[in-house]
Amino acid sequence: MHLLLLGCGKTGSLVAEIAAERRHSVRTAGSNENAACAALTPEKLHDVDVVIDFTAPHCVTAHIEACVKAGRNMVVGTTGWYSEIDRIRTLVEEHKTGFVYAANFSVGVNLFFDAARAAAAALRHKYSAQIFERHHAHKKDAPSGTAMAIQQILREVSGKSEPAEITSFREGEVVGLHEVVLESPNDRIYLCHDAKSRRGFAEGAVLAAEWIAGKKGFYDFKDVWREL
Ligand SMILES: NC(=O)c1ccc[n+]([C@@H]2O[C@H](COP(=O)([O-])OP(=O)(O)OC[C@H]3O[C@@H](n4cnc5c(N)ncnc54)[C@H](OP(=O)(O)O)[C@@H]3O)[C@@H](O)[C@H]2O)c1
Repeated sequence: MHLLLLGCGKTGSLVAEIAAERRHSVRTAGSNENAACAALTPEKLHDVDVVIDFTAPHCVTAHIEACVKAGRNMVVGTTGWYSEIDRIRTLVEEHKTGFVYAANFSVGVNLFFDAARAAAAALRHKYSAQIFERHHAHKKDAPSGTAMAIQQILREVSGKSEPAEITSFREGEVVGLHEVVLESPNDRIYLCHDAKSRRGFAEGAVLAAEWIAGKKGFYDFKDVWREL
C-alpha cells in the first residue's frame, strides 16, 4: 500500500518503521510540511491508500476533515478529539470513506478492555471502581483516551450514570500504564496493563491500515481488532 503518515514523533516514527518492514511504501509529513494541512490537498493525496495520523489534539480534526473530503481512508491514533466524534462519524459516512480510530491500538490493551468488561460485573454488586493512568510528562491530554474508554466500558456494564473516577499521573517517560481497581467492603480486584514500549500501538495501527484499505465505514479498533 501507499501510506501517508502524519506525525513522525515518538509513535509515528515506529509506525513508519513497522510499515516499511511490512513492505508498504510510506511517505511522512511532519508539522513543517503539513502546516495548515498543506500535505493534504486532493492532488497530494491522489495515490495514497490510507493516511495514518499520530500528531496532536489541536490539529487532528483539521487533518481528518481534509482527508475525508478528499475521499481518503484514515487510521487515527491521535487522541484528545473525541468530543467531536459524532460530527466526524457523520462526515465519514457522508463522504463514504473508511475510518478506524482508537485511543489505543495495542492488541494487549484491547484484550484488557475485555477483561475490564468482564470484571465490571462486580459493579452490579457491592463494588465501586477507580481508574488510574500514568503517562510520560510530555503527554498533552489528560485523562488518557484509554482511561476514558475503560470508564465508558464500566458505565455500559454497570448501567450507572455516575462515571468511575479517573486519576491521571504524568511523570518521567512512562509509556502508558492503566489500572482498574474494584473495591467492596470485603476485597479488592486489581486489573493492570503496563505498556513496555510504543511498538504495540504502532503494530496495531499498521494492521488497522491494512484492514481499512478499500473499505468504507466508521470503526472503533476495539470492535474490529479480532478480524486482523
Ligand atoms: N492510539 C494509540 O494507540 C496511541 C499510542 C500512542 C500515542 N497516541 C497519541 O498519538 C498522538 C501522538 O503521540 P506521540 O507520543 O507520538 O507524540 P509526539 O512524539 O509529540 O509526536 C507528535 C508528532 O506530530 C507532529 N505534528 C504536530 N502537528 C502536526 C501536523 N499538523 N502535521 C503533521 N505532523 C504534526 C509533531 O511534529 P513537531 O514536533 O514538529 O511539532 C510530532 O513529531 C497523541 O495524541 C497521543 O496521545 C495514541
